Amino acid sequence: MRIVLLGAPGSGKGTQAQRLVRVHGVPQVSTGDLLREAVAQGSPLGQRVKAVMESGALVDDSTMLAVIRERLARPDAGHGFILDGFPRTIAQAEALQSLLAEIGRPLEAVVLMKVNQELLFRRLTGRRTCRTCGRVFNIYSAPPPVPPPCDGRCTAPDLFQRPDDSEATIGRRLEVYQAQTQPLIDYYRRARLLREVDAEGDLDAVATRLAAVLKDVRAI
Ligand code: AP5
Repeated sequence: MRIVLLGAPGSGKGTQAQRLVRVHGVPQVSTGDLLREAVAQGSPLGQRVKAVMESGALVDDSTMLAVIRERLARPDAGHGFILDGFPRTIAQAEALQSLLAEIGRPLEAVVLMKVNQELLFRRLTGRRTCRTCGRVFNIYSAPPPVPPPCDGRCTAPDLFQRPDDSEATIGRRLEVYQAQTQPLIDYYRRARLLREVDAEGDLDAVATRLAAVLKDVRAI
């Protein structure tokens, strides 16, 4: 399986990617997670991108291409991958196409996850992540169990809100999505790779619709 999950911030790309990982056994490649790890480690990459991420803007294409090239070269991506948050610009999409052509493993599908703006805002303002186990909750739609533990691995959930999930930054991220990432919809439609999913509704309903549009894509 070599697919891209495309959609606005809060459309559920990360949540559904994790479900696909469990079903198909290929890794989720989330550029947002890779960058957040770099920031948490204080690596040179992390130091370079921290302020950009917190502002809601995109990290530059050449940095992102280096990140994705290194990640896709790891052995676990040899059987496939679920790209979450990449590509986000036409330049990234073109570079990805060349990279995958070089290794003879082109994309099989790009799934657009469609959610209305009001719901995106609610999902993002409600998102909370457990610092200990990394699990993502939502105070409105998927609240952490009370009392703790949050998932059995943690003895106590230590929830935090992503710095870019403040109301002001969410607005900026949605504008950036419209300006820089939405053109990918036509790009992938023209390439005959685009599939569309109604990503509103509960997690299971979205997962079922996603599975339906991917039913002809091989698991590995
Ligand atoms: P990134 O981490 O990729 O953020 P994003 O694309 O803005 O996406 P999100 O993680 O916010 O949302 P999601 O669609 O994964 O939703 P989720 O499943 O978590 O990028 C962060 C930053 O890194 C960027 O702004 C940029 O600076 C930089 N960056 C990353 N990649 C880059 C690139 N390629 N180029 C340049 N810069 C890059 O769900 C959200 C919430 O909703 C959760 O709380 C979840 O529990 C809940 N939820 C999900 N689905 C449902 C449902 N069906 N019903 C109810 N609640 C739901």
